[in-house]
Amino acid sequence: MSSEGFPRATAYLQCIETTCRATYDASERIYTCEQCGGLLDVQYEWQRARLFDVLETFDARRASFHPHDTSGVWRFRELLPFVTSPAQIVTLGEGNTPVWDAPRSAGYAGLKRLAVKHQGLNPTGSFKDNGMTTGMAQARRLGARAVACASTGNTSASLAAYAARAGVHGIVFIPGGRIAYGKLAQSLDYGAVTLQIEGNFDDAMRLVRELARTTPLYLLNSVNPFRLEGQKTIAFELLQQRRWRVPDWVVVPGGNLGNVSALGKGFKELHNLGLIARLPRLAVVQAEGAAPLAQWYAAGQTGNLAPVARPKTLATAIQIGNPVSWLKAVRALEWTNGVCAVVSEQEIADAKAMLGRDGIGCEPASAATVAGLRRLVSERVVDPDADVVAILTGNALKDPDFTVQYHTGQLYTDAERETHLTHAEGKLVPTFANTPRQVPADATVLRQVILDLLETPPA
Ligand code: F0G
Repeated sequence: MSSEGFPRATAYLQCIETTCRATYDASERIYTCEQCGGLLDVQYEWQRARLFDVLETFDARRASFHPHDTSGVWRFRELLPFVTSPAQIVTLGEGNTPVWDAPRSAGYAGLKRLAVKHQGLNPTGSFKDNGMTTGMAQARRLGARAVACASTGNTSASLAAYAARAGVHGIVFIPGGRIAYGKLAQSLDYGAVTLQIEGNFDDAMRLVRELARTTPLYLLNSVNPFRLEGQKTIAFELLQQRRWRVPDWVVVPGGNLGNVSALGKGFKELHNLGLIARLPRLAVVQAEGAAPLAQWYAAGQTGNLAPVARPKTLATAIQIGNPVSWLKAVRALEWTNGVCAVVSEQEIADAKAMLGRDGIGCEPASAATVAGLRRLVSERVVDPDADVVAILTGNALKDPDFTVQYHTGQLYTDAERETHLTHAEGKLVPTFANTPRQVPADATVLRQVILDLLETPPA
């Protein structure tokens, strides 16, 4: 197969509601079902006979230098056959993220071993790039001149970069004052029009959805099913790195719930096509103060999800009270016999420090995975012997404030902590603190410090 060849299959949009299942042409500029308002999937009429040796094609491309083969998304293009011309592709070489052993984090979680796939090593530092390249391809296919999203920071950073590369307007709606600084820096640097909404993520989401209906803005949030097509390739790349061996569990943090939905779709498609023999179980982990899905499960899984009006977590990436993709997430957990877990702020902070001790930095939301695993092992949901992969979603450098505040004992759960600095309310315990030491600029003193240090084993 030629490295430039872009296979086509009939792609269409389909409503996920079992009572509706309306279908639409893949070139329609819609985000939800016109009949019932339900979420849409990108579906394909697969030509199965052509796909029987596709895993070998994917493996062979690892030796290629063509940008469409070196991309960790487009390498899997036979399973993304909605693109009508290779000219639609805007790639930054996304994906290609490492899978590492995390032995200390494994021990901390009560597991014999734990692997992490670090999506924070994407070009803009988060897993959003996997989905942004496919969302942008669809934007180009539709001839969009402006793309937009609401974001807790990572989607906006990614959209800004891909919009810049594509030469279209990027417009991002972010909750004013509530995104990590590194992420804000990115969208400014990449030239996106950055709108700081006086409200939270859910307010920003509501506004941008309305504006995508009433203006030519093309919406690139994960409610757009073409975003999730790219994100599903995280499942493909993970399996490829494991020589197509399926793990027992894959664990992700949950915010707007696009990622768990996309992973579910990716694994399910491989399984339906007969390319893998079984599905892994998915676990999605939410922060206690922003856990509408976990609450829906706890309340008996009936009716609609009750949004959390004031979501609150220091893991600002997942500070979301009304997740758009919750029904797709429920479906993914049903398909995979998955679970939803909840963790506290303290557990997230300690798990992040533990990953750090493995030499693996990540942003707070990502560490919810290890915190969630610790709970799931203690509750005997996950077996200590299980083959587990945690997906780390964002780079440590996105939110260095959190890390420094933790290690210096200055991490407060209250967002307005500056006004509370005089008392300990909401202060997290720096269980695994590595506090910087003030030392004089004096070689004699430092010599003694170093000799004392060498008397003890490394941390
Ligand atoms: N981890 C990180 C680092 C994130 O940025 C997000 C979502 C998630 C986890 C949760 O993923 O929403 O698919 O369930 N960030 C979005 C954003 C909301 O705007 O950047 P999800």
